[in-house]
Amino acid sequence: MRRVAFDEATIAARVRELGEAITDAYPDGKLLVLGLLKGSFIFLSDLVRQIRRPLQVDFLVAASYGSDTASSGNVRLLYDPETRLEGKHILLVEDIIDSGLTLSRLMTLLSERQPRSLEICALLHKRIATELHHEPIFLGFDAPHEFLVGYGLDHAENFRHLPYIASLQ
Ligand code: IMP
Ligand code: MG
Repeated sequence: MRRVAFDEATIAARVRELGEAITDAYPDGKLLVLGLLKGSFIFLSDLVRQIRRPLQVDFLVAASYGSDTASSGNVRLLYDPETRLEGKHILLVEDIIDSGLTLSRLMTLLSERQPRSLEICALLHKRIATELHHEPIFLGFDAPHEFLVGYGLDHAENFRHLPYIASLQ
């Protein structure tokens, strides 16, 4: 069973607002929007089209290891973005923050590359993260404590293509 949690129009309106906020927040310097694959791919592609300033886009893949299901807290980058991070404003785009472990480890790794600034834009936040030292400065929605799919989010690689966000029940 699927229940729609955020419909297409609701998501589009919020993404437009986030784009405007990001446009205003970065008046100068090089902006690199860095998407965390795979979950952020749809959100990021909609988001960057609502940002009215020069920017670059890149992606990275982070994998948890040590345990395949539960977040073990160990994160490694499966590949590094080719683009240099040094001196740039980095906006890390994530689909959903659950335990926050992935983002916490990534923020530590990325800050070692000496970006000019490093911030998080997340579409959804379950607000159960205890390990998150950096809160997203741009956030789409607080998420219900349910398993969500669609708009990039998957369950066993399925449902990513849905244009809305649904909770699996
Ligand atoms: P964290 O490290 O526990 O914050 O895990 C975040 C990652 O887990 C996200 O990038 C998603 O890939 C995945 N995830 C967490 N909650 C959900 C959900 O409700 N639906 C789909 N994926 C989720
Ligand atoms: Mg996933």
